[in-house]
Amino acid sequence: MEDKLTWIEIQDSIGWIKINREKKLNALNRDLINELHHRLVDFQNDTSVKVIILTGSGDKAFVAGADISEFSNYGPKEASALARHGNQVLFDFIAHMEKPVIAAINGYALGGGLELAMACQLRVAAQHAKMGLPEVSLGVIPGYGGTQRLAALIGKGNAMEMILTGDMIGAEKALRMGLVNAVVPSEQLLEAAITLAHRIIKNAPHSIKNAIKAINATDVASKGFEEENFQFSDCFGTADFEEGIAAFLEKRKPLF
Ligand code: CAA
Repeated sequence: MEDKLTWIEIQDSIGWIKINREKKLNALNRDLINELHHRLVDFQNDTSVKVIILTGSGDKAFVAGADISEFSNYGPKEASALARHGNQVLFDFIAHMEKPVIAAINGYALGGGLELAMACQLRVAAQHAKMGLPEVSLGVIPGYGGTQRLAALIGKGNAMEMILTGDMIGAEKALRMGLVNAVVPSEQLLEAAITLAHRIIKNAPHSIKNAIKAINATDVASKGFEEENFQFSDCFGTADFEEGIAAFLEKRKPLF
């Protein structure tokens, strides 16, 4: 089945979602976030789907972040609402799904794109994939759970380095840090995601659901998610924010 912003398909108990916004490196705008939500709800309710695989179209990007052009004139109030909505319908929604979602990272996973991959239960990356949370270079911070989930996955020290520098890391380093579960050559990415999916599908669905819930209970960061929303929104409308966003849109380096 084909749609404007996503493609879906069900094959051998796997529900496939491919983000279809290749020209904008699959950046997440509001319509795409809402469409992804509906796709996930449909798969959640479809008993023939046991595992979901989420990937991006093309071989350049999984998702290059939240759509920067969409929030360029936002103030703190709109920013807070944007992040709350995204978290509710997509990021936290995935993290708490009853069926595992595997991110097949087929290229750049930056900002909201890495946050999306981190919200998934498992991540497989192509060798050429690059990951990072570059928000501080735009005058903001991650707002879709990145400050919390990155620290949980790779430890506070590594998360500090990635978030404060905004630097990207390659797939092999991401594997060593525990940010992804596996790295494979690009042409084997989908096959690797399928193999991982079938290692889960052979197990009891009720146990899978309960295991996700129990593992999520180790998440003591609920206050952290609130703090992230506050600090994220607080960046909006500042001179740094205006310079960071203007620089991206004008394709130049920011001068903070
Ligand atoms: N938002 C909007 N548009 C984006 C985008 C984004 N996050 N990322 C890429 N694009 C667009 C570009 O503007 C460009 O559009 P045009 O062709 O219309 O000019 C198109 O996608 C192709 O991108 P580039 O020409 O920039 O491709 P490149 O190969 O030169 O660079 C890149 C690739 C390094 C990934 C670069 O696109 C980039 O730095 N993107 C932004 C990454 C980023 O900062 N992400 C974080 C966003 S903020 C966020 O996510 C906030 C949050 O947590 C809530």
